[in-house]
Amino acid sequence: MTPSDVKATLSFSDGSPQMDLPLYKGTIGPDVIDIRKLYAQTGKFTYDPGFLSTASCNSTITYIDGDKGELLYRGYPIEQLATNCDYLETCYLLLYGELPSPSQKEEFVNRVTNHTMVNEQMQFFLRGFRRDAHPMAVMTGLVGALSAFYHDSTDINNPEHREIAAIRLIAKMPTLVAMAYKYTIGQPYIYPKNDLSYAGNFMRMMFATPCEEYKPNDVLVRAMDRIFTLHADHEQNASTSTVRLCGSSGTNPFAAIAAGVACLWGPAHGGANEACLNMLNDIQQMGGVAKIGEFIKQVKDKNSNVKLMGFGHRVYKNYDPRAKLMRETCHEVLNELGLHDDPLFKLAMELEKIALEDEYFVARKLYPNVDFYSGIVQRAIGIPVPLFTAIFALARTVGWIAQLNEMIGDPEYKIGRPRQLFVGATQRNVTPIAER
Ligand code: SDX
Repeated sequence: MTPSDVKATLSFSDGSPQMDLPLYKGTIGPDVIDIRKLYAQTGKFTYDPGFLSTASCNSTITYIDGDKGELLYRGYPIEQLATNCDYLETCYLLLYGELPSPSQKEEFVNRVTNHTMVNEQMQFFLRGFRRDAHPMAVMTGLVGALSAFYHDSTDINNPEHREIAAIRLIAKMPTLVAMAYKYTIGQPYIYPKNDLSYAGNFMRMMFATPCEEYKPNDVLVRAMDRIFTLHADHEQNASTSTVRLCGSSGTNPFAAIAAGVACLWGPAHGGANEACLNMLNDIQQMGGVAKIGEFIKQVKDKNSNVKLMGFGHRVYKNYDPRAKLMRETCHEVLNELGLHDDPLFKLAMELEKIALEDEYFVARKLYPNVDFYSGIVQRAIGIPVPLFTAIFALARTVGWIAQLNEMIGDPEYKIGRPRQLFVGATQRNVTPIAER
């Protein structure tokens, strides 16, 4: 990061000593004001709940321009990666900073492929869950449990440990998600096959049974792979910030990623794809397109607590580029399956059209985000709704690891420990219970 020749001067109206704060420039995007010495020099904290104006780190991995609706992984536009690369190429790019050469890709794919099996003991963790457990509850447990099996790769400060832990997590997430699914439907687990692609292997582990082979549909496999790419990383979102803060204590990579899985589950974040599909189903039950106006009225009524799931974003104040690509993928998959008249897809497109013309959404710059169409295409592929967020976690694992490794690899990193504005009781004495 480059020191800017512009300085920020902080002065106080009560005559407290003013302070010059250095600014730093990135390669693109907003400059930052360096406040690291603020408390030491002024005895004051900054205050930014939700971190709307706070840069928690410097990073070289993903850049988002919220106003333009642009998303770059290591400088490459998501549109180009989603059409010209596959997910494992994108994983290589996010982890190592450059797109792989053919030989580098072959070596990386082989490494990942040869780590797709999980220890046989892992299956016994699932038995403790009810069959109707939410897959994200299962995934939070399974990912954390991985740390119990790889004592040879849990020293987060050892680059070799970080490298093998990254490969293991990327390789095993599809196996674990498929196991979580098979457990809920009472079918036996399907082992990975090394002669399949990453997405093809996942689809087979999900849909094959010992009684008959799964014949992968190339259009669906390509769509699944693209869904992984679109969800791979996204700057300092809530779950990535959770992984960074968790990892900053020096805990092992598996525990840090498990924390990211837990955070992603929330409906305001990765859980929005499941919530969005449930919302579309509710509107369909209410009467479909004819009832969109009534639903939008509920959304505008602050007391209803109803949100248009899959819309709005902390950073994008324009169309989320991933939503556009997801809508295209929707068209491809529904056409391939002869479902171009899918009522939920039609409903979603009509809902999008109405919302984008409605002053409430226009004034607040609320556009479809990655979660608006992802549920429809996953449902068409045959993914059950409760599994949507687990698939988001599968795809985001590479981003979490890349961001974690970037932090740990930064010699300046420290354990994260925010402060607060205390507004509670000042010191008072305990009255013994007999006198209370
Ligand atoms: C993801 O951060 C990331 O990068 C996340 C993600 C990633 O890849 O990691 O992109 C993935 O999480 C996408 C977002 C998925 N979430 C949803 O679709 C849930 C619905 N969206 C909202 O909950 C909301 O838009 C957030 C949480 C996404 C963003 O919320 P902010 O930035 O805190 O904005 P806000 O809640 O302050 O909203 C500003 C205004 C408010 O109205 P006013 O108080 O100004 O009158 O917009 C309204 C909000 O009520 N609003 C919505 C709305 N989102 C915001 N109103 C109706 N429906 C919505 N979806």
